[in-house]
Amino acid sequence: MTPTAPEILTRHGKAVDKYLQGALARLDGAPSRLIEAIDYSVMAGGKRLRPALVLECESAVGGRQFAEKQNPSTARRPFPTPSALAAAGAIELIHTFSLVHDDLPAMDNDDLRRGRPTNHVVFGEATAILAGDAMTTLAFELIANAAHPATAPKLVAELARAAGPCGMIGGQILDMAGESQALSLDQLKNVHRMKTGALIVASCRMGCICAEANPDSPRSAGDDSSALTPRPSPLSSVTAYAQHLGLAFQIIDDVLDETATAQQMGKATRKDAARGKNTYTSLLGLAGAQREATNQLQLALAALVDFGPEAEGLRTLARFVVERHS
Ligand code: IPE
Ligand code: IPE
Ligand code: MG
Ligand code: MG
Ligand code: MG
Repeated sequence: MTPTAPEILTRHGKAVDKYLQGALARLDGAPSRLIEAIDYSVMAGGKRLRPALVLECESAVGGRQFAEKQNPSTARRPFPTPSALAAAGAIELIHTFSLVHDDLPAMDNDDLRRGRPTNHVVFGEATAILAGDAMTTLAFELIANAAHPATAPKLVAELARAAGPCGMIGGQILDMAGESQALSLDQLKNVHRMKTGALIVASCRMGCICAEANPDSPRSAGDDSSALTPRPSPLSSVTAYAQHLGLAFQIIDDVLDETATAQQMGKATRKDAARGKNTYTSLLGLAGAQREATNQLQLALAALVDFGPEAEGLRTLARFVVERHS
């Protein structure tokens, strides 16, 4: 039986929660109020979609390599690797940092997140800002300490690029600047790609990088020299999948802001329009936004055409992103 999206998210969520709990427990010497504030937002649940993507991409890419061996049934599948677990923990820390800062009065000024009062409401703005900063530094520390030495620099570069000025942080700047102006669809697409898509792309690429570096892999994931007809490398297929998925994810987030309740989402809804945010629904209407999300889903699935059953988890997660109600 193919696992459902909730089953996949729960399984990977448990693994990353355990990993993060361990990492937070090792923060001895840090002020207890800061640890409390970090723990409050990081361990508050959340879908754990990004860590699940890291781990599913590692096993999809590694699994495809194994499937191409003569006797795949006897091949060992040593997933998740310690590198992928570190990457999964790190992306969730960066994502949670983005949420804590996104909710600040200077940004979206929200008071509910993951079903709880937001970090700044409980701990004050200064601590919330610093807790977000600390999540970022901790993310890179985890990768530097736990990932395979050949993989760590690639993972750090991937995550830093995606989180930084050309990715999530840059996108958040554009999102805020756009509040006072009407963006074109292309401009909005770019905001969504940066503020949300970049971390989703990084999740998938980091999983792929971990699979490529696995010493048990029969060959490098980028090496398709044995194929008669050249085909896209796993990294480029997974990147295309994630780009479409990232866009679909934020389009549906825009839709749910209009259609879902705060209880379903664990965060305030019906606030984007009031704030003058540019969203897919403000530009295309609800039905148009939904159609575009479905279109992006089809493109994401098409990008996985070279993968077999080992990528079924990724296909299931993509459908979930577009069909979800929370
Ligand atoms: C919310 O992300 C922020 C966006 C990028 C739209 P999620 O919907 O993944 O939030 P959690 O992690 O489940 O709380
Ligand atoms: C936020 O987008 C994306 C981030 C980088 C956090 P939103 O502002 O739409 O996210 P929500 O709806 O508050 O979760
Ligand atoms: Mg925002
Ligand atoms: Mg917000
Ligand atoms: Mg939103």
